Amino acid sequence: MEMSLRFYPDPVLRRETEEIRVFDQDLKVLVDEMTVIMQNADGVGLAAPQVGLSKKIAVVMIEGRRYVLINPVIVEEEGQQTGEEGCLSFPGVFGEVKRPYRVVVECRDETGEAQRYEAEGFLARAMVHEIDHLNGKLLIDKFSPIKRELIKKRLAKANR
Ligand code: CO
Repeated sequence: MEMSLRFYPDPVLRRETEEIRVFDQDLKVLVDEMTVIMQNADGVGLAAPQVGLSKKIAVVMIEGRRYVLINPVIVEEEGQQTGEEGCLSFPGVFGEVKRPYRVVVECRDETGEAQRYEAEGFLARAMVHEIDHLNGKLLIDKFSPIKRELIKKRLAKANR
């Protein structure tokens, strides 16, 4: 299977994603392929819709540790942080985004084992960003309406 990065406004980025029920070798290969695509693009996170797949799979890699988030749910969130965020599906776009400071995420990993991640700071930000992708929510949705419209216009021009 040949996967490549999808960029806004590709409709797959807004599509509903399916829960993963089968944890097999194909899934492990897929997660590894997503990891390579993410690393080649210098990203710290990647969600399946960003490679054209409507599935509840995301990968986050920070400080050499890979977190595989399959069917993730945020079960706790606490506090607030504001910081600059980008997204591999929006090349060159950055903006200040408010996120919870700390989250607890329950999910499965690529082997099907249940995982519970308690994340703070940048890791929490990255996980919430990727989980947003699995719910069709994108970076620009977090921007002010004025900034959002400017970016849409700029990207529409670039795509022509
Ligand atoms: Co993103």
